[in-house]
Amino acid sequence: MVFLCAVYRLFTLYLSGMKITFFSSQPYDRSFFEKFNDSTGFELQFLDVALNEQTAIMAKNATAVCVFVNDQVTTAVIQQLAGLGVKVIALRCAGFNNVNLVSARENGIRVCRVPAYSPEAVAEHAVAMILTLNRKTHKAYNRVREQNFSLNGLLGFNLHGKTIGVVGTGNIGQAFCRIMLGFGCRVKAFDLIANKEMESIGVTYHPLMEVLNSDIISLHCPLNEQTRHLIQDETLTYIKPGAMLINTGRGGLIDTKSVIGALKKGQIGALGIDVYEQEEKLFFRDLSANIIQDDDIQRLMSFPNVLITAHQAFFTDEALSQIAITTLNNVLQLVKNSNLKDQAALLA
Ligand code: NAI
Repeated sequence: MVFLCAVYRLFTLYLSGMKITFFSSQPYDRSFFEKFNDSTGFELQFLDVALNEQTAIMAKNATAVCVFVNDQVTTAVIQQLAGLGVKVIALRCAGFNNVNLVSARENGIRVCRVPAYSPEAVAEHAVAMILTLNRKTHKAYNRVREQNFSLNGLLGFNLHGKTIGVVGTGNIGQAFCRIMLGFGCRVKAFDLIANKEMESIGVTYHPLMEVLNSDIISLHCPLNEQTRHLIQDETLTYIKPGAMLINTGRGGLIDTKSVIGALKKGQIGALGIDVYEQEEKLFFRDLSANIIQDDDIQRLMSFPNVLITAHQAFFTDEALSQIAITTLNNVLQLVKNSNLKDQAALLA
């Protein structure tokens, strides 16, 4: 026992000499990662700047960098990191569309992510967006505070009996399907592979065009070359007129200009987005005193039937705890034996 304790102590001492540099970090990242670093003992450096060609140099002396959704981990950035001796790029998120995995492999850098931290967090946020857009609770809240007790303009519809189209039935899509089945909805899904467990609880799989013909459509697939601008002028013609579209996946799943056109025509009846194609210039910071140069988001914000949240679907206590625990463990395993037990977490 004494021997084991000594080995453990030596190992934590060894790790304490290893630095993880965090890019795009927020105060909540620091508090959750520091809370769970006791057992791993890395040196943690928190930077609020995003990772890019200009800032990569700040990872000097780091064994690993920890990045988030809008850090641009391009070939040029990876080459710089490799030159600095960085061994691991740890994503503290599930999506990895912002990392060039081929370059990472070529430069001998391991890449890991948190494949499933709290799928319910994102699924529940998608449902919150549906309920808000449908029953207009955001408007009711403001009205009642101004002593306006009128109901005009607040009419919604029953979710019970409605058809929900789900694109992508991975961890988050499955959690979302379960909730919507609980509301008494009919759930139609599109995925590259039909999930047997989902089928057994009542989800039916169909071609994409059929799934888009639903009362509410929710996107839960990753962003990649096949799914970029999945919703654009042509696919919008398959959407049931007046349908609600929810995107908590990645902004690039939607061609913003096409969707603005569809909102103007009433082809889309309501839009809820937690992600936005140009979000890296906007999200995760307070720009309330700035002049926003992005005309598309300004146009979207002007629609009464559009709800935008700033990439907060993951933002629950449970999810942040799991993200910190898994990320630190991923780096620990890669440093220790250059492999991961959870193969879904290993990207390169
Ligand atoms: P997952 O990997 O468990 O599931 C993705 C599913 O999409 C899989 O079933 C896969 O087969 C399917 N898929 C892949 N290509 C497809 C295609 N071309 N068409 C239809 N389906 C396709 O991923 P998970 O955990 O469910 O997350 C999904 C996405 O949600 C992530 O890639 C990420 O972009 C996004 N996300 C957003 C968050 C937020 O805070 N807004 C937080 C976490 C994830």
